[in-house]
Amino acid sequence: MASKLTPFAFRSAPRALRQLQRTQWRSLSAAPARRSDQLMVHRDTDVNNPSIPFKFTPQNEELIKEVLSRYPSQYKKAAVMPILDLGQRQHGFTSISVMNEVARILEMPPMRVYEVATFYTMYNRNPVGKFHVQVCTTTPCMLCNSDAVMKACEDFLGIHHGQTTKDGLFTLTEVECLGACANAPMIQINDDYYEDLTYDTTVSLLKALQHAAEVTGAGKGAAGLGGEAGKGAITGVKVPTPGPLSSRKSCEPAGGLTSLTGEPWGNEKLRTDGEL
Ligand code: FES
Repeated sequence: MASKLTPFAFRSAPRALRQLQRTQWRSLSAAPARRSDQLMVHRDTDVNNPSIPFKFTPQNEELIKEVLSRYPSQYKKAAVMPILDLGQRQHGFTSISVMNEVARILEMPPMRVYEVATFYTMYNRNPVGKFHVQVCTTTPCMLCNSDAVMKACEDFLGIHHGQTTKDGLFTLTEVECLGACANAPMIQINDDYYEDLTYDTTVSLLKALQHAAEVTGAGKGAAGLGGEAGKGAITGVKVPTPGPLSSRKSCEPAGGLTSLTGEPWGNEKLRTDGEL
């Protein structure tokens, strides 16, 4: 029996010894780990505290009824995300009062609503400018020079990530992938994507938005803009259509088709209107 166990003892002994000798280190840090650039706590401010009343407008109440009708009545808390979004669109940002009102409507503990609103970055829990400029700097956009897009925003607006222009027109945020990598680099401004950007096209876009805000009266006080924005007269600028600001129509190859270029093999027919 002893002779059978000897090879096993020889094989396992070094491993046991190594484990005994290994020093057990635990990382010790005096500062909390920083996993995001946003503080996931609420601090009362003059514009965001629970004593500021918030109610949905009658039109939005109708919309809420429609959203709730999509869920079984005992699961109405499943509608928390669209209703928070509605609250943000009405109020301008997802304030604590918006969250509390959503919790009341959905009969959920307010903490459950706070958990959702602090997890998803599309809920702005602090006021943002009329144009929320979100620059994607994740790897595909970074490889296509999102640095130039970010610099264009900073140069033109005179602000940095997380800041709002003095007139409240633009807020600049750096974000992770927005799912339009085929048209990198890109930015999201409010609900619209602008893609295939360069330094120059980004500046033209921001100028156009600023001009549009001035023309419509939304940009009152635009003289308070910092950086390049305050320096020159901006006339005759049209706001570009969302999508690629290059010669591309969508996300087709920039150099023309590289596949499916020959005649189809079988009886298939191409559309005669030339659309495909
Ligand atoms: S990396 Fe920018 S959209 Fe995906």
